Amino acid sequence: MFKIHAEHLLTPIGNAPKNGKEMKKIYEDFDVDIYIENGKILDIKKHQTSDHFTIKAKLVTPSFVDAHTHIPFIGKRGKEFYMRSRGKTYSEIFEEGGGIYSTVKHVRSSTIGELIAENYKTLNHFKRLGISHIEGKSGYGLDIANELKQLKAISYINEFSDIKIVPTFLGLHAIPFEKTKEEYITEIKNSLDLIKMYTNTIDVFCDKGVYLPEDIEDLFNYAKLKGFRLRFHADEIANVGATKLAIKLGAISADHLLKIGEEEIELLGKSSTIATLMPGTSFYLGESFAPARKLIDKGAAVALGSDYNPGSCPIFSPSFIMHLALRFLNMEPEEILTAYTINSSYILNIENGAIEPGKKCDIAIWNTNEFIDILYMFDTNFLSAIVIDGKVTFYENS
Ligand code: NIG
Ligand code: FE
Repeated sequence: MFKIHAEHLLTPIGNAPKNGKEMKKIYEDFDVDIYIENGKILDIKKHQTSDHFTIKAKLVTPSFVDAHTHIPFIGKRGKEFYMRSRGKTYSEIFEEGGGIYSTVKHVRSSTIGELIAENYKTLNHFKRLGISHIEGKSGYGLDIANELKQLKAISYINEFSDIKIVPTFLGLHAIPFEKTKEEYITEIKNSLDLIKMYTNTIDVFCDKGVYLPEDIEDLFNYAKLKGFRLRFHADEIANVGATKLAIKLGAISADHLLKIGEEEIELLGKSSTIATLMPGTSFYLGESFAPARKLIDKGAAVALGSDYNPGSCPIFSPSFIMHLALRFLNMEPEEILTAYTINSSYILNIENGAIEPGKKCDIAIWNTNEFIDILYMFDTNFLSAIVIDGKVTFYENS
């Protein structure tokens, strides 16, 4: 057993997800000892004495959970960044065979070993910034064998990594070069049992120029019957009705939502589908930001993620994403903490994001007393230690 003596404890508590006004309710305490044994939180009490088994901490929060990344991938797309900076749009580059297609070429020609090595390195950068779990997806294979190669890479990485990737199948990320939409959708439908060996979550890029609601409704209904949890990249480029379909099918999350209107905001406010927002992508592409404030005020549950990918958002820093959430999504710091911990955990179906007796122990220890500092000085790394499953990694600024 060991304990963490926290000068300041800040954590969501209770059951996920938190929606509307509940997102702002954070438990706060000062000068407490958190007792940890066998990867679990045993107890939290007012500080008494310190001993050899006490870690001294300033601020303690749950570790962060990134609800949306595109790991594992391989290859960089710096030239596209340059072209966009000179006026080309993300959609134009995609239509010309770059964008997602460029990463598909790299992933198809990589071995699984290369995918594992490259992405494991990246995971350590996430961990160093306070993240214990991320979502990861296929979507750069665009055929069953290469999509499964990505999912297998995730499962191998999880065997030896302490930071964990929760996998999602995003076969419907773009239309493959060599077949029609319909042929590919049928192939996926026939492969769902195989896919289920690696993940129980299916996602789609449901947007203009990619898959439309009418293309995928049958497949997603069928996947749901087979026990898949549904996620949507919804209405990021244009409002094509993706969010409405996500809500109708009871999807666990609808992500991006840049182009939704009042109607979808109302519907999300009343539904159990979580609005998952990635302000890093809006910033990186110079696009508008999702209507986070309105969503929360209407009662929706909001989660945050990086969308880390080699094209539209090569950013993984939670401090920077939270900085953007405060400034451009008009979210309050407490809402941001909820969105990056307990709400994102709920999407990934893991028990994280609340520091309370009986819960699993995934904790971040910060070298500042104030949560706002992590957002305000986003490129100073305040993390002094991270505890994943009860095991501690210390960093030099402890
Ligand atoms: O979430 N929106 C679609 N897919 C990714 C972009 C992936 C890429 O450009 O490689 C996204 O932004
Ligand atoms: Fe994405």
